[in-house]
Formats: sequence, C-alpha cells, structure tokens
Amino acid sequence: MNNKVLIFDTTLRDGEQALPACLNVNEKLQIAIALERLGIDIIEAGFPISSPGDFKSVQVISKNIKNSKICSLARCIYKDIDTAAQAMKSAISPRIHIFLGTSSLHIQSKLKKSFHEITEMITSSIKRARKYTDDIEFSCEDAGRTSLENLCFFVEKAIKYGANTINIPDTVGYTTPTQFKNIIQTLYEKVPNIHKAILSVHCHNDLGMAAGNSMSAIEAGARQIEGTIGGLGERAGNTALEEIIMALKIHSRKMGLVTNIKTKEIYRTSKIISQLCRMPIPINKAIIGKNAFSHSSGIHQDGVLKNKENYEIIDPTMIGLKKSKLNLTSRSGRAAVNHRMNEMGYQPHDYNIDKLYIDFLKLADKKGQIFDYDLEALAFINNQKEKEEEYFQLKYFDVQSKLSGFSIASVILKCGSKKKIKEVTTKNGPVNAIYQALNKITLYPIKLKKFNLVANGEGKDALGQVNIIVKYKSRNFYGLGLATDVIEASAKALVNVFNHIFKANQIDKKFDRGS
Ligand code: KIV
Ligand code: ZN
Repeated sequence: MNNKVLIFDTTLRDGEQALPACLNVNEKLQIAIALERLGIDIIEAGFPISSPGDFKSVQVISKNIKNSKICSLARCIYKDIDTAAQAMKSAISPRIHIFLGTSSLHIQSKLKKSFHEITEMITSSIKRARKYTDDIEFSCEDAGRTSLENLCFFVEKAIKYGANTINIPDTVGYTTPTQFKNIIQTLYEKVPNIHKAILSVHCHNDLGMAAGNSMSAIEAGARQIEGTIGGLGERAGNTALEEIIMALKIHSRKMGLVTNIKTKEIYRTSKIISQLCRMPIPINKAIIGKNAFSHSSGIHQDGVLKNKENYEIIDPTMIGLKKSKLNLTSRSGRAAVNHRMNEMGYQPHDYNIDKLYIDFLKLADKKGQIFDYDLEALAFINNQKEKEEEYFQLKYFDVQSKLSGFSIASVILKCGSKKKIKEVTTKNGPVNAIYQALNKITLYPIKLKKFNLVANGEGKDALGQVNIIVKYKSRNFYGLGLATDVIEASAKALVNVFNHIFKANQIDKKFDRGS
C-alpha cells in the first residue's frame, strides 16, 4: 500500500460554513496561498453554487494557486456540478467533489428518496462530472451512520462510474476510533474495486474523536485526510490537520508514512488562518496553542533544562517556532529564573539570584505568570536596593476611596534604621491622599510637577509603573515606582524621590551648601 498520506484542507468550505462572519475573496485567497505554501495537496476552495461570492473566490483561487489541487463541492445536481467546473476553469488540476447522504436517516428523512433513486443520483452525477475532469471525489455523507452493507454498495457504484477518491465522512462525529477503523477495514475487504480509488476520511469532532478516528482510518488504509488547520468546521469542527501531520511525523519510523507538508510552515499558517477567520486559537490547543511548548511546573522546568526530551515530544522548531518556553510562575524554581535571566542577556554577577527569587515568588503569587518585562523590573528594583539601604522605606499603606467622596490614606514610613512614623490624611483622590500623608512625615517642601502612570508590560495584570518629577528647592527630582497595585507604585515613586532628596541634602550638608 502507498505510504503517502494526502492532506486535504477544507478551511475555505467546511471551515467557512462555521465562521461567525463570511470571508471575502481576498481573505480566502490569502488563506489559499498560505495553504499552498504549507504543502497542502488539495484545497477545497468552496461550494460555488452556494453564492456568487463563493463562485468568485473559487475562480480567483483557481487562477492563482499552482501547486495544490483545487477542489469544489457540488451536490448530486447537474447545475451544482456544471457551476463547480465553471468556477475552476483556470485551475491546473481541478477536482469536483460530489456528496450525497447515504445513511437511512438522511435518505428517508432529509432527501426523502428511495434507495434506487439515491443510487441513480450518485452514478449520473459522477458521469456528469467526468465530462469536465477525471479527478472526482465522491463523499457518502453521514457514512459514520450508514449501514456497512449499504456503504459498500454505494462506494462500489461510485468507483465503477468514475470516482477515484472515495471520502468516508463521519458527518456528525458519531463514531469512536475502533468503530471507524472497522468501517475502513470493511470497505477494503468487501468492495471489489476499492483499489482503484484512494480512500479518504473526513471526521467531525462532536465527541472529540476526530483526530483519533482519522488516525485509526490511516492504520486501516485511508490515504487522504480531510480537515482544517486548527480544526475549524461545522459545530465542534473538523479534524485538526496539524495533529495528524505531526502524529505521522513523530511516529514516522513505526508507521512508515509520509506527507508532503512542510511542517515548519504550520505555526505561521495557523496564525494567518486564525487572524483572517477571527477565530482565536485556544491556548492549550495541541501543536499550535500558546501553551503547547510551555512548561509550568518546577519539576517539568527542571527536567526540560536538563534534557528537553524529558517533557517534550515535539521539537518546536519543527512547526516553525523558535524554542520552547518556560512559563515562570510561583511553581518555577530558581534554575528557571536564572535560565530566563541568562536568555535575556544578564550575567550571573548582574543580579543576586537569592534576593531576586524571593521578590519573584512574591510577585508571582500576586500575578500568576511572570513575563520577561516583570523579571527585568524586579532585577532593576533589586539592584537599586542592593546599592544602598534606602533611608525612607514604605512599610504600610491603606487607602479607602469611594465614588464622589474623599479618600482616606494611612501610611507608615520607616525613616532611618529605627524610627517608624504613621500618618493619616483625607483628600480628594487616592494618590493625592497618600502623597499628602507621606509628605506630612518628611515635611519636605515639594511640588509635584509631573505624574505619569503606564502599564509595564501587557495584559491587565501588568506591573504599574509610575514616573514622577518633583520640584524641591528649585531642583527637579525624578522618582520611579513599580508594583502590581498602581497606588503602591505611586507611593513608591514618591518615596523614591524622598530618598533622592535626603541624599542630596546630606551631600549639601557635607559640602556646606545648605540653603
Ligand atoms: O461532513 C460532511 O459530511 C461533509 C461532506 C460534504 C463531505 O462536509
Ligand atoms: Zn464536514
């Protein structure tokens, strides 16, 4: 049996059916170009009879895509087939994909036809399509719920009349891997002309079995897999092709099967599709999710640092990513923090890992995940602290604010090595209140000239960074405060200024420059 598994992408047809908003022609072309670059064998570009927009997209894609086969969907209706062929006139190798329900349920309650009529529709449609191309795919819609006897009958007829790809869809994602494998095995055993066609499968994910069912079909001899990158498609979606492609690659030695896919393009393609389809990729999605190559627990991180293979079965560079990531959280160990600092270009003597790690754990408890910019900010604050013990230290604060009311701030400021002073102030606004309370302690005659609050990093849990400029005796002093709480960051910025003023006064005293 052939060892090549063909990859058939239906993002632009089954995938598009399930999107919250239709894609325009240009967006569809961009997706087709990305799929061609990925090495997809067959791109199902649309269902041309369904709308003029779909017809146009198939036409444009047929003109522009040269290295993948272009395929168009058609019901067993002559007008559908003629329109599909017309839309693909400029395609180098067009495929017409005809489908019809074959389960008793579909035949009786949806199509309301007799068995004989269904047979006739299948054979005459294939004959019609053969006038345009000799690449014909026939799908037995709802094959997962079609009796094996009937399925074998329809498949044999479809091949006899000229279909060279037979697709077995589990349209409603009903089967399990063992049941689905049995369907494919039975077709190989019971359909006499089965070897004249390639067996394809098209699995939906209603029970979360789409990838498992597709893999078991491959084991039974299927050599074309239909699906979409990221698993988009009707309801719970189609088989996520990247899962099949990577499973075949990872197990290539055991299974001996190959695809034409350039796996290094997987990540990039998934990003393009997700953006154009406005469908975010779940962070825990296999292969392409943000967390697929991130390690969180301390034990795992330690294991990965020693040898990636301890916890990684796929090298992220295989799908076009740079490298795996250690998620820094309160579960991360010192080794992971050190490793990240080194990756960011810090040398071990640039920071004190013991102190940095204590601050890291405190921040991680508040924030959850610690990003590079958090780590840099912590290292910066730590280095500042290291240089000298500050004279003023914020030991406690509490601010109470309410809508259209005053804010009450109480603070405790450590002044020198022993003294701790408490102050309480009521003012309009929490920052104003805390600034007044702090200033009542130092009694420095200061004037706040500039106050700037920005998020240091991304997301709502980024550190707040406050930069201030304060005028004191005709000189400007700069202050910086960083904290997850913006009031704390504001207070720290002012305390930072107080320390600068304190040092400046000491220097002035030393050189007798007091005013
Ligand atoms: O799920 C399905 O049965 C289909 C067919 C048109 C192949 O999408
Ligand atoms: Zn489908």
